[in-house]
Amino acid sequence: MFPSTPSTTPAPALEAEGLGYTWPGRDQPALRDCGLQVPASGLWMLVGSNGSGKSTLLRLIAGLLPLQRGQLRSRVRSALVFQNPDHQLLLPSCGSELLLAIDASLERDDRERRLERALDQVGLAGLADRPIHALSGGQKQRLAIAAALASEAELLLLDEPTALLDPASQQEVLALIRRLTSRAEQPLTALWITHRLEELASCDGAALMRDGHLGPWQSGTALARRLAG
Ligand SMILES: Nc1ncnc2c1ncn2[C@@H]1O[C@H](COP(=O)(O)OP(=O)(O)O)[C@@H](O)[C@H]1O
Ligand SMILES: [Mg+2]
Repeated sequence: MFPSTPSTTPAPALEAEGLGYTWPGRDQPALRDCGLQVPASGLWMLVGSNGSGKSTLLRLIAGLLPLQRGQLRSRVRSALVFQNPDHQLLLPSCGSELLLAIDASLERDDRERRLERALDQVGLAGLADRPIHALSGGQKQRLAIAAALASEAELLLLDEPTALLDPASQQEVLALIRRLTSRAEQPLTALWITHRLEELASCDGAALMRDGHLGPWQSGTALARRLAG
């Protein structure tokens, strides 16, 4: 059914085959026979025109939509990061936001440690008491990523995470995800939707979504060149 993976390479983080999804009340499917394999680490990008089904696919992978057709197998915990962090961050301070994501059954000390570590990993060390409204857009997006890390997600699903950010913050968030997905120890996997062709230069592979169907992984730079031309 799924191609078997050689034992020397780590198992993919995610495998999907034949996915189909039709939104309630629509007659045209948003996804049709859509498949993908996301490797165990790295930064993988999806591009495609508006309405081609990218967000639907991410929501399906995140388990926010019921599986209607096809198969989906994930080896790791995943977490979604939305375009607008204000739709995601619910609590008044950085620390309280992260505590919400941390397993409540852990001892208090362990929760504190995990909280500090998550802030540290996204470059927000020491800001646990900082009110969220006092953060910049880029800092808010990094906090949303910290919450994903605090929840022990290993597959980050990012839906146009830089669309609302200024150029400096875009760079910050992209560099952070690059770092997390290429570090030597426990590198994470990121599936990143973008409409910024320049971001494709930073990925390990990119795929084009067209009419609810996803093409194969290819070089991000080559795909960007083709789409720009
Ligand atoms: N909540 C929804 N209800 C009904 N239709 C939707 C909803 N979200 C998306 N769609 C439809 O699904 C199709 C794919 O949309 P979407 O996954 O958002 O594409 P993309 O993220 O690539 O812009 C579009 O035709 C869109 O109108
Ligand atoms: Mg979308």
